[in-house]
Amino acid sequence: FGRQLHLREVVASTQDEVRRLAEQGAAEGTLVIAEQQNQGRGRLGRTWVSPPGKGVWMSLLLRPPVPLPLSPQLTLLTAVALSRAVSKVVPGLSIGIKWPNDLLVGGKKISGILLESAAEDERVKYIVVGMGISVNLDPEDYPEELLDKAISLKMASGSPVDRVQLIADVLEEFELLYGLYLEQGFEPIRTLWEARSVTLGRLTVLRTAQGTIQGIPRGLDEMGGLRVELEDGSWRTVYSAEIGG
Ligand code: BTN
Repeated sequence: FGRQLHLREVVASTQDEVRRLAEQGAAEGTLVIAEQQNQGRGRLGRTWVSPPGKGVWMSLLLRPPVPLPLSPQLTLLTAVALSRAVSKVVPGLSIGIKWPNDLLVGGKKISGILLESAAEDERVKYIVVGMGISVNLDPEDYPEELLDKAISLKMASGSPVDRVQLIADVLEEFELLYGLYLEQGFEPIRTLWEARSVTLGRLTVLRTAQGTIQGIPRGLDEMGGLRVELEDGSWRTVYSAEIGG
Protein backbone atom coordinates (compact mmCIF):
# COMPACT_ATOMS: atom_id res chain seq x y z
CA PHE A 1 0.00 0.00 0.00
CA GLY A 2 1.10 3.52 -0.65
CA ARG A 3 3.07 2.60 -3.75
CA GLN A 4 0.73 4.98 -5.56
CA LEU A 5 1.45 7.86 -3.27
CA HIS A 6 0.23 11.42 -3.65
CA LEU A 7 1.86 13.91 -1.31
CA ARG A 8 0.10 17.23 -0.96
CA GLU A 9 1.00 20.42 0.86
CA VAL A 10 -2.53 21.72 1.54
CA VAL A 11 -5.86 20.12 0.69
CA ALA A 12 -9.41 20.65 1.89
CA SER A 13 -9.61 16.99 2.92
CA THR A 14 -7.55 13.98 1.83
CA GLN A 15 -10.88 12.11 1.69
CA ASP A 16 -12.00 14.19 -1.29
CA GLU A 17 -8.68 13.71 -3.07
CA VAL A 18 -8.89 9.92 -2.81
CA ARG A 19 -12.57 9.87 -3.80
CA ARG A 20 -11.69 11.78 -6.95
CA LEU A 21 -8.86 9.36 -7.77
CA ALA A 22 -11.17 6.42 -7.04
CA GLU A 23 -13.77 7.73 -9.47
CA GLN A 24 -11.01 7.95 -12.08
CA GLY A 25 -10.27 4.25 -11.55
CA ALA A 26 -7.27 4.45 -9.19
CA ALA A 27 -6.02 1.13 -7.82
CA GLU A 28 -6.45 -0.27 -4.33
CA GLY A 29 -3.67 0.99 -2.09
CA THR A 30 -3.62 4.50 -3.55
CA LEU A 31 -2.73 6.88 -0.75
CA VAL A 32 -2.97 10.63 -0.31
CA ILE A 33 -1.01 12.27 2.50
CA ALA A 34 -1.33 15.98 3.26
CA GLU A 35 0.78 18.26 5.41
CA GLN A 36 -2.29 20.30 6.17
CA GLN A 37 -6.05 20.07 5.68
CA ASN A 38 -8.15 23.17 5.86
CA GLN A 39 -11.45 21.29 5.90
CA GLY A 40 -10.48 18.09 7.70
CA ARG A 41 -13.59 16.08 8.50
CA GLY A 42 -14.38 13.93 11.50
CA ARG A 43 -17.27 11.56 12.07
CA LEU A 44 -20.79 12.90 12.52
CA GLY A 45 -20.06 16.05 10.53
CA ARG A 46 -17.43 17.30 12.96
CA THR A 47 -14.30 19.14 11.88
CA TRP A 48 -10.90 17.57 12.39
CA VAL A 49 -8.06 19.79 13.56
CA SER A 50 -5.26 19.28 10.98
CA PRO A 51 -2.55 21.97 11.35
CA PRO A 52 0.46 21.95 8.98
CA GLY A 53 3.30 19.50 9.61
CA LYS A 54 2.05 18.29 12.97
CA GLY A 55 0.07 15.19 12.25
CA VAL A 56 -0.54 12.27 9.97
CA TRP A 57 -3.50 13.22 7.79
CA MET A 58 -4.01 10.60 5.13
CA SER A 59 -6.56 8.58 3.19
CA LEU A 60 -6.20 5.13 1.67
CA LEU A 61 -8.23 3.61 -1.16
CA LEU A 62 -9.55 0.07 -0.74
CA ARG A 63 -11.56 -2.09 -3.09
CA PRO A 64 -12.43 -5.05 -0.86
CA PRO A 65 -14.59 -7.82 -2.35
CA VAL A 66 -17.24 -7.62 0.40
CA PRO A 67 -20.91 -6.69 0.68
CA LEU A 68 -21.50 -3.13 1.84
CA PRO A 69 -22.90 -4.01 5.31
CA LEU A 70 -19.52 -5.51 6.22
CA SER A 71 -17.57 -2.34 5.54
CA PRO A 72 -17.57 -1.25 9.23
CA GLN A 73 -15.28 -4.22 9.86
CA LEU A 74 -12.60 -2.28 8.03
CA THR A 75 -12.93 0.56 10.52
CA LEU A 76 -12.17 -1.87 13.31
CA LEU A 77 -9.27 -3.32 11.31
CA THR A 78 -7.88 0.18 10.81
CA ALA A 79 -8.07 0.92 14.53
CA VAL A 80 -6.03 -2.20 15.26
CA ALA A 81 -3.46 -1.27 12.59
CA LEU A 82 -3.09 2.26 13.96
CA SER A 83 -2.80 1.14 17.55
CA ARG A 84 -0.13 -1.44 16.68
CA ALA A 85 1.83 1.12 14.66
CA VAL A 86 1.67 3.76 17.39
CA SER A 87 2.78 1.19 19.99
CA LYS A 88 5.79 0.35 17.82
CA VAL A 89 6.86 3.96 17.34
CA VAL A 90 6.10 5.13 20.87
CA PRO A 91 6.74 2.08 23.04
CA GLY A 92 5.53 2.36 26.60
CA LEU A 93 2.46 4.41 25.77
CA SER A 94 -0.69 2.57 26.71
CA ILE A 95 -3.16 2.85 23.84
CA GLY A 96 -6.75 1.72 24.00
CA ILE A 97 -9.41 1.49 21.32
CA LYS A 98 -12.76 3.05 22.14
CA TRP A 99 -15.50 1.46 20.08
CA PRO A 100 -15.65 1.65 17.19
CA ASN A 101 -12.44 3.34 16.23
CA ASP A 102 -11.02 6.09 18.42
CA LEU A 103 -7.53 5.62 19.84
CA LEU A 104 -7.19 6.87 23.39
CA VAL A 105 -4.24 7.54 25.65
CA GLY A 106 -5.20 8.14 29.26
CA GLY A 107 -8.82 8.61 28.23
CA LYS A 108 -7.98 11.30 25.64
CA LYS A 109 -8.25 10.89 21.88
CA ILE A 110 -5.06 10.79 19.80
CA SER A 111 -6.46 9.41 16.58
CA GLY A 112 -9.66 9.07 14.60
CA ILE A 113 -10.79 7.09 11.58
CA LEU A 114 -13.36 8.06 8.95
CA LEU A 115 -14.66 5.52 6.45
CA GLU A 116 -16.52 6.70 3.38
CA SER A 117 -17.79 4.19 0.88
CA ALA A 118 -19.38 3.93 -2.52
CA ALA A 119 -21.47 0.91 -3.49
CA GLU A 120 -22.61 -0.78 -6.66
CA ASP A 121 -25.24 -3.55 -6.60
CA GLU A 122 -24.92 -3.76 -2.80
CA ARG A 123 -21.22 -4.55 -3.01
CA VAL A 124 -18.45 -2.17 -2.12
CA LYS A 125 -17.20 -0.25 -5.13
CA TYR A 126 -14.56 1.45 -3.06
CA ILE A 127 -13.84 2.55 0.48
CA VAL A 128 -11.85 5.60 1.45
CA VAL A 129 -10.19 5.04 4.82
CA GLY A 130 -9.29 8.36 6.40
CA MET A 131 -6.77 8.25 9.21
CA GLY A 132 -5.89 11.16 11.42
CA ILE A 133 -3.16 10.86 14.04
CA SER A 134 -2.39 13.85 16.23
CA VAL A 135 1.36 13.40 16.34
CA ASN A 136 3.24 16.56 17.25
CA LEU A 137 0.46 18.99 18.06
CA ASP A 138 1.00 21.36 20.99
CA PRO A 139 -1.77 22.43 23.36
CA GLU A 140 -2.13 25.76 21.52
CA ASP A 141 -3.02 23.89 18.31
CA TYR A 142 -6.30 22.73 19.85
CA PRO A 143 -9.43 24.77 20.41
CA GLU A 144 -9.81 25.31 24.16
CA GLU A 145 -12.86 23.05 24.46
CA LEU A 146 -11.00 20.03 23.03
CA LEU A 147 -8.12 20.08 25.51
CA ASP A 148 -9.81 17.84 28.05
CA LYS A 149 -10.78 15.36 25.32
CA ALA A 150 -7.84 15.30 22.90
CA ILE A 151 -4.09 14.89 23.13
CA SER A 152 -1.16 14.42 20.75
CA LEU A 153 1.51 11.73 20.90
CA LYS A 154 4.07 14.42 21.67
CA MET A 155 2.01 15.78 24.56
CA ALA A 156 1.36 12.27 25.89
CA SER A 157 4.92 10.98 25.59
CA GLY A 158 6.86 14.18 26.24
CA SER A 159 8.87 14.11 23.02
CA PRO A 160 8.28 14.64 19.30
CA VAL A 161 7.51 11.58 17.19
CA ASP A 162 8.87 10.78 13.72
CA ARG A 163 5.88 11.09 11.36
CA VAL A 164 7.57 9.29 8.45
CA GLN A 165 8.38 6.27 10.58
CA LEU A 166 4.83 6.25 11.90
CA ILE A 167 3.33 6.34 8.39
CA ALA A 168 5.62 3.47 7.31
CA ASP A 169 4.54 1.40 10.30
CA VAL A 170 0.85 2.15 9.79
CA LEU A 171 1.06 0.99 6.17
CA GLU A 172 2.98 -2.14 7.13
CA GLU A 173 0.48 -3.07 9.86
CA PHE A 174 -2.46 -2.23 7.61
CA GLU A 175 -1.20 -4.41 4.80
CA LEU A 176 -0.59 -7.30 7.16
CA LEU A 177 -4.04 -7.14 8.75
CA TYR A 178 -5.83 -6.53 5.46
CA GLY A 179 -4.15 -9.62 4.02
CA LEU A 180 -5.27 -11.62 7.03
CA TYR A 181 -8.81 -10.25 6.63
CA LEU A 182 -9.04 -11.17 2.95
CA GLU A 183 -7.72 -14.67 3.69
CA GLN A 184 -9.43 -15.54 6.95
CA GLY A 185 -12.27 -13.08 7.34
CA PHE A 186 -13.09 -10.89 10.31
CA GLU A 187 -12.49 -13.42 13.09
CA PRO A 188 -8.74 -12.79 13.66
CA ILE A 189 -9.34 -9.02 13.49
CA ARG A 190 -12.12 -9.28 16.04
CA THR A 191 -9.77 -11.04 18.48
CA LEU A 192 -7.06 -8.42 18.04
CA TRP A 193 -9.56 -5.58 18.42
CA GLU A 194 -11.11 -7.04 21.58
CA ALA A 195 -7.68 -7.40 23.18
CA ARG A 196 -7.02 -3.67 22.70
CA SER A 197 -10.45 -2.34 23.57
CA VAL A 198 -11.08 -0.05 26.52
CA THR A 199 -14.83 -0.23 25.91
CA LEU A 200 -15.47 -3.83 26.92
CA GLY A 201 -16.43 -4.77 30.45
CA ARG A 202 -17.39 -1.28 31.63
CA LEU A 203 -20.81 0.15 32.32
CA THR A 204 -21.40 2.40 29.31
CA VAL A 205 -24.01 4.80 28.00
CA LEU A 206 -24.63 4.44 24.25
CA ARG A 207 -26.61 7.00 22.28
CA THR A 208 -28.11 5.26 19.25
CA ALA A 209 -30.52 6.57 16.63
CA GLN A 210 -33.22 4.56 18.44
CA GLY A 211 -32.47 6.13 21.82
CA THR A 212 -30.04 5.87 24.70
CA ILE A 213 -29.16 2.55 26.28
CA GLN A 214 -26.97 1.66 29.21
CA GLY A 215 -25.16 -1.60 29.67
CA ILE A 216 -21.87 -3.46 29.62
CA PRO A 217 -20.31 -4.08 26.18
CA ARG A 218 -19.02 -7.64 26.17
CA GLY A 219 -17.59 -8.11 22.68
CA LEU A 220 -18.10 -7.81 18.93
CA ASP A 221 -20.41 -9.88 16.78
CA GLU A 222 -19.25 -11.37 13.48
CA MET A 223 -20.21 -8.21 11.59
CA GLY A 224 -18.39 -5.85 13.93
CA GLY A 225 -21.39 -4.73 15.99
CA LEU A 226 -20.99 -4.19 19.72
CA ARG A 227 -22.76 -6.78 21.89
CA VAL A 228 -24.09 -5.06 24.98
CA GLU A 229 -25.50 -6.74 28.09
CA LEU A 230 -28.28 -4.58 29.49
CA GLU A 231 -29.12 -4.18 33.16
CA ASP A 232 -32.16 -6.45 32.90
CA GLY A 233 -29.94 -9.25 31.57
CA SER A 234 -31.07 -8.94 27.94
CA TRP A 235 -28.68 -8.32 25.04
CA ARG A 236 -28.55 -5.72 22.28
CA THR A 237 -26.16 -5.46 19.36
CA VAL A 238 -25.33 -1.91 18.40
CA TYR A 239 -23.94 -1.05 14.97
CA SER A 240 -23.80 2.70 15.27
CA ALA A 241 -23.77 4.81 18.41
CA GLU A 242 -21.95 7.47 20.35
CA ILE A 243 -20.36 6.44 23.59
CA GLY A 244 -20.26 8.86 26.46
CA GLY A 245 -21.63 9.85 29.82
C1 BTN B 1 -13.10 11.09 13.78
O1 BTN B 1 -12.61 10.57 14.78
O2 BTN B 1 -14.08 11.83 13.88
C2 BTN B 1 -12.49 10.80 12.43
C3 BTN B 1 -11.35 11.70 12.09
C4 BTN B 1 -10.72 11.40 10.74
C5 BTN B 1 -9.68 12.40 10.33
C6 BTN B 1 -8.94 12.00 9.09
S1 BTN B 1 -7.55 13.03 8.76
C7 BTN B 1 -7.38 12.36 7.16
C8 BTN B 1 -8.77 12.17 6.61
N1 BTN B 1 -9.23 13.39 5.95
C9 BTN B 1 -10.26 13.94 6.60
O3 BTN B 1 -10.84 14.99 6.26
N2 BTN B 1 -10.59 13.21 7.67
C10 BTN B 1 -9.75 12.02 7.79
